[in-house]
Amino acid sequence: MKNINPMFDGESLITPNSIAAEIFVAKNTEKRSDDRALAEAELAITLNLIEKMISNENHPSTIMSFTVERLCEMRKKFTPVVWSELIPFIQNNSSAQYFQNDPFTKWSVMKPRGYSGDAQLIDFIYRHESMNNHIVAASELGQCLHGYAMEVSSSVAVRERRDLLTRHIDEMASSYGGELEILTIAAGHLREANRSSALQNAQIKRWIALDQDPLSVGAMRREFAGTCVDPVDGSVRSLLTNQHDLGEFNFVYASGLYDYLNDKVAIKLTRKCLSMLKPNGVFLFANFTEENSNAAYMETYMNWALLMRSEADMWRIIHESCKDMDVDCQVRFGENRNIVYGFIRRKD
Ligand SMILES: C[S@@+](CC[C@H](N)C(=O)[O-])C[C@H]1O[C@@H](n2cnc3c(N)ncnc32)[C@H](O)[C@@H]1O
Repeated sequence: MKNINPMFDGESLITPNSIAAEIFVAKNTEKRSDDRALAEAELAITLNLIEKMISNENHPSTIMSFTVERLCEMRKKFTPVVWSELIPFIQNNSSAQYFQNDPFTKWSVMKPRGYSGDAQLIDFIYRHESMNNHIVAASELGQCLHGYAMEVSSSVAVRERRDLLTRHIDEMASSYGGELEILTIAAGHLREANRSSALQNAQIKRWIALDQDPLSVGAMRREFAGTCVDPVDGSVRSLLTNQHDLGEFNFVYASGLYDYLNDKVAIKLTRKCLSMLKPNGVFLFANFTEENSNAAYMETYMNWALLMRSEADMWRIIHESCKDMDVDCQVRFGENRNIVYGFIRRKD
């Protein structure tokens, strides 16, 4: 895979290194151990067991589930600072090569678009046909690992997120009688639109889909040519610095973006999104939670760190963003609680 230059806009934290400063800080850690020597000893035993299972040719799903569970336990047991110091040991262990037989894990490590969490990586999770060639080209072992990776709780939650958005859009479209205007921020490939009956039946007035990656914007242009979807090259920064004249919307949302934004940027962006809502318009933002039991595997073997948020973190963003505004707000979890959703409806 060829690496291209990352296109950072200075507002997203989409490399594991840049995000580390936000994630691996000591917060709410009074019940966790900061015993580095113990952590290193436990990790050495775990890595040794994983290597043994690999050399014994245990079933790939057994190895993967053991690894995901053991790392998840260690991540919970030790402080974020101690955990962050273990990550390079895991990434440099021989088992890292084993897990890269899975094309999804490998893509995440190689970062062919130059940053974490690109739309093609997410297309693996959506089982989108465009990624089939990568799966077919994988070894039998790789395909087996891949099958497991697609069923872990975080992958299930991402597919649910897409479906929830499709449902929400279709429901809104039916009550807006063809007048619905949507803005998607960090749209990726806008896969929630693929199954939208409202889009198919031309019940949406306009749908602006903004992303910072020109390759993803190009892919959307091809996919949605002739529909009301209008892909736009743009970023959190270009939005915050008012470089677009997009007008107002009934529904503005961001999924798979807040996981890369620190609180300061998240609050600024939320305020900006609220300012683009028509009366009664809704803003939705999604974020991974600490209940994601795959987080440790993602941070280590996939080099894909996310800024996870609790219900209280979501409320803090909402309260800080909605000062002096007349709004109705909700925070809800997805079914397996790996993703949490904030909803803000403008009443004025
Ligand atoms: C994890 S994908 C999510 C894609 C899609 N929203 C979904 O739910 O499947 C993250 C997307 O966010 C985009 N992105 C990351 N940082 C961004 C920024 N600062 N401004 C605009 N887009 C950004 C990336 O280009 C990528 O397409």
